[in-house]
Amino acid sequence: MCGIVGYVGERPCRDLLIAGLEKLEYRGYDSAGVSLLDGGRIESVRAVGNLANLRSAIEAAAGNGAVAVADATATIGLAHTRWATHGRVTEENAHPHGDCSDEVHIVLNGIVENHAELRRELQAEGHVFSSETDAEIVAHLIEKHYAGDLAAAVRGSFADLRGHYAFVAMHARHPQLLVGARQECPLIIGVGEGENFLASAIPAFLRETRRVMQVENGDIVVISPDGVEITDAAGTPLQRQVEEVTWDEDAAERGGFPTFMTKEIHEQPDAVAETIADRLSDDEHVNLEELEIPPERVAELRRVVIVACGTSYHAGLIGRYAIEHWARLPVEMDIASEFRYRDPVIGPDDLVIGITQSGETADTLAAMRLARDRGAHVIALTNVMGSQATRDADSVLFTRAGLEIGVAATKTFTSQVAAMYLLGLWLAQGRERLPRERIVELIAEMKALPHQIEATLANVEDQVRAVARSHYQGRFFLYLGRHIGLPVCLEGALKMKEISYIPSDAYAAGEMKHGPIALLDESTPVVCVATDSPILEKMLSNVAEVRARGADVIAIATDGNEAVRETADQTIFIPSTDWILQPMLAVLPLQLLAYDTARLLGLNVDQPRNLAKTVTVE
Ligand code: AGP
Repeated sequence: MCGIVGYVGERPCRDLLIAGLEKLEYRGYDSAGVSLLDGGRIESVRAVGNLANLRSAIEAAAGNGAVAVADATATIGLAHTRWATHGRVTEENAHPHGDCSDEVHIVLNGIVENHAELRRELQAEGHVFSSETDAEIVAHLIEKHYAGDLAAAVRGSFADLRGHYAFVAMHARHPQLLVGARQECPLIIGVGEGENFLASAIPAFLRETRRVMQVENGDIVVISPDGVEITDAAGTPLQRQVEEVTWDEDAAERGGFPTFMTKEIHEQPDAVAETIADRLSDDEHVNLEELEIPPERVAELRRVVIVACGTSYHAGLIGRYAIEHWARLPVEMDIASEFRYRDPVIGPDDLVIGITQSGETADTLAAMRLARDRGAHVIALTNVMGSQATRDADSVLFTRAGLEIGVAATKTFTSQVAAMYLLGLWLAQGRERLPRERIVELIAEMKALPHQIEATLANVEDQVRAVARSHYQGRFFLYLGRHIGLPVCLEGALKMKEISYIPSDAYAAGEMKHGPIALLDESTPVVCVATDSPILEKMLSNVAEVRARGADVIAIATDGNEAVRETADQTIFIPSTDWILQPMLAVLPLQLLAYDTARLLGLNVDQPRNLAKTVTVE
């Protein structure tokens, strides 16, 4: 989740833009850049690392005669903080990106799904690329479509693009104009007096103006010092309201949400969409070329071993069902801190997946190194480019959740689950274990997940809050599930423990009668994950067992399944999808339940006691 800010007005904007980037630092980044247009020429400075590096690069550039940057007199410009997804963390891959003649400069947040195909077409037409990024495509597309009207060129480019993005463009021949476009990723207008801003989030310009206009999907926005024009992709003018933002700066960083955890829970649709975006770009194939694993190695694989800690381990447990069921490859799971000391039997026919959002968890890194030393091919599934895990692996699969600030993992979890689904399908595809039509079906269902996440969060929020209100003073929470529902329970119980400090346990429902059922009494809330799956009936009989002991059963069920409603005290429904994809949705009410319970207890959900976001100690 990159940070974008653009300014056009009467004031010198270099420092305004940098100040805007400072306010977007919380989104996390690995490089940054600024482009300024002055005297018909665009000058650009980019730097790897933090904004201090960018400032020193600006000073250095000023020393080398970069007038626009030196004088800081330019009154139009673009700036960007990059959270790398496509292309390494280098100065060349930092934004802004230019076209062949440096007349067009763009900054982009998000993913261009069809970037490979567009790059091939543009190269065939003679365009020369200077970065590895998907974003640079947009600058060359605008160059291709430009015939004197920048907005028209942006509309033409918008029609060629597929993906999950928002971008802003500047052209050397239009010193009074910036043009932006939005497809799913956030973009917002800051309305000023004699000046206007375009940014990916309000904090970028909140110090300068509190008047904003929302940009909707498919909108093309033209800002100039005197005004804002919004059209649809065909050029038809659209009206948008100017709203007044009342947030203070802290709230703005949280996007108006009370905590980073809630903000991140609501960023899950974007995080999942970006994680699957160009890996499912054509609806028929899973593209994981980035792993650079030759097809013959995939065909020869004997086993998959997944190592991870905490929430990442739970994502692995869900991934196991996808890989075993779709690719018919046996999957062994282990908690990394156990795996590394049990002298595991590992060899060259094994594919080992180390799941770690931070990429810095000591036990997972050690487990990955051990597996690599024993000849296995190691994949790091991580959210952070440049992290240690990327160096301790043979291949890297990045989730694209953006920086996660809340200690309790939420959006990185659902992005990891999405990535495990990609791996399961890709292995099935490479080993020809699933008929083509089935892969096409599952790709379509996966592409529907981001909107289903959005709908689920909206639909269950109030009901979950009511459940939390009736149980937040409880002494114990029990989570029950079977089959692919069990990892969801383990994750729900971990969230409850982490942020509400209420003792919580997750158990395989079929195991209840072998002991834990003794824990139950009238006051025990029992959360049962009873989504549609091959063994739902078995699960329902376990729910009945629990209910018979007077416990208060809160069930998570699939839309339309009335049988669960008849069995439980309260039922929270989630949209229907393939049973292997259900956990992505079933976990959402459990995240919210832990969150609402902790909030009712007045606890700090972003920074719970005794916990660190990254566990680098052994
Ligand atoms: C999850 O909410 C916790 N923060 C913790 O269990 C975490 O999942 C674990 O420390 C693993 O972290 P990683 O994914 O960065 O390796």
